[in-house]
Amino acid sequence: MGGGIRQLLEQVHRLSRRCLFRVLSMGPLPTHLAFIMDGNRRYAKKRGLEDGSGHKAGFSALMSMLQYCYELGIKYVTVYAFSIDNFRRKPEEVQSLMDLMLEKIKSLLDKESIVHEYGIRVYFIGNLGLLNDQVRAAAEEVMKATAKNSRVVLLVCVAYNSTDEIVQAVKRSCVEKADRDVERIQLVDIEENMQMSVAPEPDILIRSSGETRLSNFLLWQTGNSQLFSPDALWPEIGLRHLVWAILNFQRSHSYLEKKKKQL
Ligand code: FPP
Ligand code: MG
Repeated sequence: MGGGIRQLLEQVHRLSRRCLFRVLSMGPLPTHLAFIMDGNRRYAKKRGLEDGSGHKAGFSALMSMLQYCYELGIKYVTVYAFSIDNFRRKPEEVQSLMDLMLEKIKSLLDKESIVHEYGIRVYFIGNLGLLNDQVRAAAEEVMKATAKNSRVVLLVCVAYNSTDEIVQAVKRSCVEKADRDVERIQLVDIEENMQMSVAPEPDILIRSSGETRLSNFLLWQTGNSQLFSPDALWPEIGLRHLVWAILNFQRSHSYLEKKKKQL
């Protein structure tokens, strides 16, 4: 397809999305969406692609999804990019995922990246000490470079799991308690020390590939989140899945709000 036609089609898609999003915005919109990007290896297998291609396709799907979310006006997006348990995968696979992560994290700093287009503040959430030096340095560089952005926020969970986040928060609360010489740790102390405390709780958690497990992701933060698990493998996820998740959210929104007030 010629470049001109591709650009024209892209503009038509953008315009149709704008109309669709305007209609969706007449109802309540979520503030925070979280994604478990599952099914990347199955996607590669299904299509007879080489190992690793599924995760690359998964990154492209993530970029499109972020674009839709930010066009729609969703302020916070969190993604589960690599869990602590993923370190137990075959060493070649862990290495290839780390290489991909390094390349893609660095690409976020490019002038034409989505980060600049939408003014995204990026946080990497997790036990970053478990990452290799290069990936950790790249993640820290992106966090530093985007620290002044405030329009929208992307939280990338790497070397993350929820139990580890909770343990680290409790440890920090204990150190603070000793420093302040107070007797007991309160719930609020732990909450303030959670790495995810920079964002409100997710309104919707989407896990692709039809799986309904939480896999130790945001256990502390998803007590009131709506769960949605489309059958699509992560690289197949698209606009229609996002729209469907938002419509479901809007359908039960007033009931959930009432319930929150009763608590
Ligand atoms: C789970 O699918 C996904 C992962 C382990 C990694 C996903 C990472 C990306 C898409 C790249 C993200 C990069 C940045 C910089 C945000 P799976 O491997 O469990 O696939 P399966 O369920 O089919 O086995
Ligand atoms: Mg999986």
